[in-house]
Amino acid sequence: MTPLCTQLNLTTPIIQAGMVWVSGGKLAAAAANAGALGTIGAGSMKPDLLSQHIQKAQALTKKSLAVNVPLLYDKAEEQIDTALRLGIRIFITSAGSPKIFTKKLKDAGAFVIHVVATPELAKKCEAAGVDAVVAEGFEAGGHNGRDELTTLTLVPQVVDAVKIPVIAAGGIADGRGIAAVLALGAQAVQMGTRFVATQESSAHDNFKQAILHAQATDTMLMMKRSVPVRLLKNSFYEEIKAAEETCADKDQLLSILGHGRAKAGMLDGDLIKGELEIGQIAGLVHDIPTTEALITRLMSEYRAVSRAFPMFP
Ligand SMILES: Cc1cc2nc3c(=O)[nH]c(=O)nc-3n(C[C@H](O)[C@H](O)[C@H](O)COP(=O)(O)O)c2cc1C
Repeated sequence: MTPLCTQLNLTTPIIQAGMVWVSGGKLAAAAANAGALGTIGAGSMKPDLLSQHIQKAQALTKKSLAVNVPLLYDKAEEQIDTALRLGIRIFITSAGSPKIFTKKLKDAGAFVIHVVATPELAKKCEAAGVDAVVAEGFEAGGHNGRDELTTLTLVPQVVDAVKIPVIAAGGIADGRGIAAVLALGAQAVQMGTRFVATQESSAHDNFKQAILHAQATDTMLMMKRSVPVRLLKNSFYEEIKAAEETCADKDQLLSILGHGRAKAGMLDGDLIKGELEIGQIAGLVHDIPTTEALITRLMSEYRAVSRAFPMFP
């Protein structure tokens, strides 16, 4: 186990990512019960709904849970207050400055993890008092950095740039991936795409099936001038692509996004008009296991690699 696992009381170096429309209380509790860090994705939840998901997860597990708060939404502070009130003390903040809420969270006794896509932002996180960073490469599903740094290049540069623990994300879906990023100096992994296709994820079954059929080249990073996001190619993606090719401005792009497309795609299963956020590693996802079976398999794959390369923890 890495020092970060000990700090967070985990028995595996795996963080189940917070994901809009996908990671509710059921998935987070299942991940926590299997020894990973289970994370509720607050981004798609109003504070009342977040409160319900936290309480649901707490009823299903005694292990500690995390809440992911993307800072680009206007309800971020209410989400933080709701989670603090319900006893959450691990936060993964993303898509905003680490300066905004880190002090407030630290004053409340929380462990703060912030998502970064460059070594420079990792240094700013450390200066702001963040406890650990997620270094997320451009392979990742969901919102993403503009600079196209891949996980293989980003993780070691972040490890060298800061003293706080680094968690690797982007393109990891099996034990080989976990071993690879631990070899780069990461102390844990955060996995999103792989957990979308689990029994407990709240993604619509159509979305899960689309992931099983995805090839390595079926995703693309879009909206780089406004809110970069990696999407599975479908009609919605074509709509965004056409708008970008005709030089639509930020407001026009946001108005396409603004029609509830993410919910339509990921939660309601509209594979045509819906927005489907997923990572490049979708091509490696071939089944929809329970979260417990997945985590057990990931760890046994990881152990097989570490037996071949005994320098791993
Ligand atoms: C469907 C989906 C939704 C996501 N939503 C969020 C989110 O709300 N907040 C966030 O910080 N990251 C979000 N992400 C990114 C994940 O937290 C994670 O860092 C990323 O999925 C890791 O890369 P991978 O997809 O290659 O495993 C999302 C990813 C996916 C696939």
